[in-house]
Amino acid sequence: MFVLFCFCWWSLISVFVALTDEIQSVSVVEGNSVLLRMDVTEIQDDDNILWKFGDDHFLIAKINRDKQIFSTFDGPDGRFRDRLKLDKQTGSLIITNITTEHAGLYQLQIIGAKWSSKTFNVFVYGHLPTPNITRDSSQNLSSSSCSLLCSVVNVGHVTLSWYKGNSLLSSISVSDLSISLSLPLEVEYQDNNTYSCVLNNPISNQTTHLDISKLCHTSPVSLIVLVSAVGSLLIVAAVVMCCICRKCRKTVTAVKTLEEDRTDSSKSRKPKSKANAVYQNVPKKR
Ligand SMILES: *[C@@H]1O[C@H](CO)[C@@H](O)[C@H](O)[C@H]1NC(C)=O
Ligand SMILES: *[C@@H]1O[C@H](CO)[C@@H](O)[C@H](O)[C@H]1NC(C)=O
Ligand SMILES: *[C@@H]1O[C@H](CO)[C@@H](O)[C@H](O)[C@H]1NC(C)=O
Ligand SMILES: *[C@@H]1O[C@H](CO)[C@@H](O)[C@H](O)[C@H]1NC(C)=O
Ligand SMILES: *[C@@H]1O[C@H](CO)[C@@H](O)[C@H](O)[C@H]1NC(C)=O
Repeated sequence: MFVLFCFCWWSLISVFVALTDEIQSVSVVEGNSVLLRMDVTEIQDDDNILWKFGDDHFLIAKINRDKQIFSTFDGPDGRFRDRLKLDKQTGSLIITNITTEHAGLYQLQIIGAKWSSKTFNVFVYGHLPTPNITRDSSQNLSSSSCSLLCSVVNVGHVTLSWYKGNSLLSSISVSDLSISLSLPLEVEYQDNNTYSCVLNNPISNQTTHLDISKLCHTSPVSLIVLVSAVGSLLIVAAVVMCCICRKCRKTVTAVKTLEEDRTDSSKSRKPKSKANAVYQNVPKKR
């Protein structure tokens, strides 16, 4: 009974150790290569080394140095095609141009006189775009502060944050793949603090600094004033144009009248209007 208990306890401990000590996390940015290093030193030449992927333990690579066998496999859906390389010296596995579908558990098994295994948990993160800061045009024109939006498109497993200097103002996190995010910020027009919008995942970040003078140079209020000023100017200009035109027409009429008078004859003395001239000429034609 005691022996059985001891045996059970011992196997439990070894399973526990295998589960805890042998999982190594590896983070990599999409498009890069990752090396899953096999740093087991005591390895025999006739040991078989197997690399397996995923919960279903698909065989993706096999090494037998004694027989000079170095094989890689594409996986059941071909997702590893042209992406796997084996380091013939060390037995390490290299995954090139990694994508999110290659994230997951990779198990290394050494099968020989002595069995051992090691598991790598590979996390693949997307390339981070630079956040884009824009003026929030949907905002209230009567607002006395400048409304801004920091936005990113097609991101997953990221956090988007606004910083004032080095202190965090607000943030939003997303665990889905490929969605768009935006985070608002209100600043005063005369604010001279430094603000930045930061997009980050566990292994990298991208920062865009806010240029208040560029984005918030016109307050909506001054914009209204500007628009009404331009409007009144236009009205004044229109009125002035009207007057000038009327004057023009009058001048033209006057000139015409003068010319008619001159060609008519010098019998009548310079009449002040055409109507006058016609009236004066009428009796002479009779
Ligand atoms: C990397 O993988 C992507 C997606 O499968 C592919 O479009 C691209 O051409 C690959 N790049 C290289 C350098 O192999
Ligand atoms: C930022 O967003 C604006 C408006 O959507 C767009 O015109 C501009 O090209 C974007 N800039 C960058 C760097 O994405
Ligand atoms: C505009 O701002 C005023 C006061 O700041 C607020 O009462 C009103 O609801 C806002 N309107 C919209 C459409 O946001
Ligand atoms: C902006 O900075 C100047 C000096 O750098 C300071 O005198 C002024 O009070 C600041 N304005 C605000 C609104 O913080
Ligand atoms: C962004 O990454 C750099 C190093 O790449 C680090 O020094 C900096 O603290 C990070 N910034 C944030 C806000 O995480």
